[in-house]
Amino acid sequence: MMKDALISAALDARANAYAPYSRFHVGAALRCEGVIYSGCNVENAAYPQGSCAEAGAISAMILAGGRQIDAIVIVGGGEAACTPCGGCRQRLREFSSSAMPVTMVNAQGTVLLETTLGDLLPWSFGPENLA
Ligand code: THU
Repeated sequence: MMKDALISAALDARANAYAPYSRFHVGAALRCEGVIYSGCNVENAAYPQGSCAEAGAISAMILAGGRQIDAIVIVGGGEAACTPCGGCRQRLREFSSSAMPVTMVNAQGTVLLETTLGDLLPWSFGPENLA
């Protein structure tokens, strides 16, 4: 499956973001076994209860029975790459290898940064550490 499909799914997800407080709309789309799952940020009047786009995409994957993230695309606003927050790096870590590609695009779908989960979260703690 082409990365273009992930990019367009992330852009579509961003269009549904609920972010009236920060006004920072985010979309994320991940691929798991050839299927795309997406999510958007969902803020809340009680600010800490808001959730990130990546968390929504992971929830959609888990609900469908998926467990392995093969790639993810994240889109925020502006020209600074919307890299996943620390908490979401750990959420992604649960279901990804260190080589998992993480691509940030702008609102037009142009790639701003391509990296890996391992680069974003080195020396991470994951399921194997509990084995
Ligand atoms: N946000 C995400 O959804 N994903 C990210 O990778 C970074 C930040 C959201 C959280 C909040 O709703 C808004 O962006 C501003 O921080």
